[in-house]
Amino acid sequence: MSTETRPVEPMALSEATLQRFAREVAKYPPEQKQSAVMACLAIVQQEQGWVSPAAELAVAQYLDMAPMAVHEVTTFYNMYNQQPVGRFKLNVCTNLPCALRDGTKTLRYLADKLGVEPGGTSADGCFTLQQSECLGACADAPVLLVNDRHMCSFMTPERLDQLIEGLRAVAQAEDQA
Ligand code: FES
Repeated sequence: MSTETRPVEPMALSEATLQRFAREVAKYPPEQKQSAVMACLAIVQQEQGWVSPAAELAVAQYLDMAPMAVHEVTTFYNMYNQQPVGRFKLNVCTNLPCALRDGTKTLRYLADKLGVEPGGTSADGCFTLQQSECLGACADAPVLLVNDRHMCSFMTPERLDQLIEGLRAVAQAEDQA
């Protein structure tokens, strides 16, 4: 079997995406347009669901940045998906303060409930489960973040059951809409 890997080509950016990029770049002096890198990556993720290597290259080209510098941003922040994810991304904090208050058990509970190991996506494509670094809400442990936006605190098994049930209902309603 050949081990040759094909070089990645930059993703083609739509006119609408380019306009959104331009709006972000305009917030900075021309010589500092690279400051828009996080915003551009967020736009790509919003539109594509994840930041592919091809998308990283397109952002790098647009901002005149080294591709590795863009990759460093993508890999540094938890919020950027480096592979396609399910409809709901669940980031469970397992750093020490949370681990001392059932953070690890919470991750395991969800893994068993959803039938997916951390880092994976459920067979129905609904949930991606991820282990997370500190989410800045240690006093509310165990905590998890849904889709990088909604913080859920004090997540007992009962509250986890309610959360999953609620998210499944949202998915069902969206599918029927
Ligand atoms: S250690 Fe979990 S939120 Fe800080």
